[in-house]
Amino acid sequence: MSEKNPYKYNGDTLILENITDNNTNKSVYIESYGCAMNFSDSEIVASILSKNGYKTSDDMYNADLILVNTCSIREKAELTVRKRLEKFNKVRKTNTNVKVGVLGCMAERLKHKFLEEEKIVDMVVGPDAYKDLPNLLEEIEDGKSAVNVILSKDETYGDITPTRINSNGVNAFISITRGCDNMCTFCVVPFTRGRERSRDPQSIIKELNDLSEKGFKEITLLGQNVDSYLWYGGGLKKDFSKASEIQKASSINFAKLLEMCALTQPKMRIRFSTSNPQDMSIEVIKIMAKYENICNYIHLPVQSGSDNVLKAMNRQHTRKEYLELVENIFKIIPDCSISHDMISGFPDESEDDHKQTLSLMKKVKYSFGYMFKYSERPGTLAAKKLEDNVDEKTKSRRLSEIVDLQQKHSLFRSKQFIGKTVEVLIEKESKKSSSHWAGRNQQNATVVFPKKKFNVGDFVNVKVNDCTSATLVGEATGYSKNN
Ligand code: SAH
Ligand code: F3S
Repeated sequence: MSEKNPYKYNGDTLILENITDNNTNKSVYIESYGCAMNFSDSEIVASILSKNGYKTSDDMYNADLILVNTCSIREKAELTVRKRLEKFNKVRKTNTNVKVGVLGCMAERLKHKFLEEEKIVDMVVGPDAYKDLPNLLEEIEDGKSAVNVILSKDETYGDITPTRINSNGVNAFISITRGCDNMCTFCVVPFTRGRERSRDPQSIIKELNDLSEKGFKEITLLGQNVDSYLWYGGGLKKDFSKASEIQKASSINFAKLLEMCALTQPKMRIRFSTSNPQDMSIEVIKIMAKYENICNYIHLPVQSGSDNVLKAMNRQHTRKEYLELVENIFKIIPDCSISHDMISGFPDESEDDHKQTLSLMKKVKYSFGYMFKYSERPGTLAAKKLEDNVDEKTKSRRLSEIVDLQQKHSLFRSKQFIGKTVEVLIEKESKKSSSHWAGRNQQNATVVFPKKKFNVGDFVNVKVNDCTSATLVGEATGYSKNN
């Protein structure tokens, strides 16, 4: 088996030998939880395993390998994964040959529990160790367990072409940064995914071109904090100050990368996520305005509208600075849509803090929102230093007030499209009607309309005549000029 392994470790350097052995006919069933980055990582894992003869399968009962790509962001996410592991353990009772592996953010924190205490998995692999999978699979072949949760300074998987899983052939993710240096006090990501590093722009453009050749129409550049992207030849973002003058002068920031992508594939739509308000520059907003194929949509998590809470969260901006940024966005791109992440019930959050969150929302009138109750995560600064002292009932009540307000704002934003014609990229059949297509406009609103002669992947103009808070309903009037 080892001769067939396409990846070989030479000390800590990995040599990629381009051997494809698809004759072993093994199958891997992969389930992914959590953020888009996890789904994107699973495609990297599928690509690495394909070199070892594994094909992805949606049949867990007959798979040779079950992998679950896990999320630690909130307790609920971890509980969901634990339930799935119980299920996979049952599968192991009927299919005794199947191996089970845990990938992703739960790997580091729970490796001992999974492998030694509960013995429910064979292998635990952290987000930076996926290239070691072929070796780890060899280790577990004769019943041993294997683990690699080492976080890396430079792994970006830039040399791996992801194998698209469950793809509609239209939308794809391209990851551009890994890890996060921000240390928001509530957040487990810097611990599970390590320090921030950016991927070589050449490899990003190569992936973009490859996707275009395969017929994809829209890509989303992914990172925990995309606006902080900085390529200076490799290495951690925090070590940029130690780079040479030549490296510094030829470095590429997010605005430049975005422009490179927009110019390289002018017919493809470009999206990006997530933008941290502290790093979003006017330069980026101007680049968005300059290129029609960069979608007018920004996911701009704020977490709270209160300065006290923002400070305790270690977010690097004030309420005022955030609102100024929003003002600049609307000034430069009047039809931009903005969404948020919000947390209710952070330690010591008072009723007044909560009211400030509602008032900030009223000022921005976000198009969408992702809203959560604070969930204390072991190991974070908040868990160490702050008491989780807002009771469950209050957290829930505040969350539902935030959700209700967001619903109103979403409806307000949706209504603004009524009577207008928007460009929609068709992605799939509408969930509610087999005679309708569903797609999104530039502003990320879902649009449904009768199928007529159009197909998945077409850019069409749709005249909007009705809406709910979540969906625009309309009639396609023809192909758009981008088709
Ligand atoms: N990088 C992004 C956020 C990544 S995590 C940023 O710039 O903010 C996605 C979202 O999960 C966060 O924005 C936050 O709203 C939520 N989240 C993270 N940790 C959480 C916790 N401990 N409890 C509740 N929500 C949390
Ligand atoms: Fe988490 Fe804050 Fe980074 S929310 S991912 S530490 S920007």
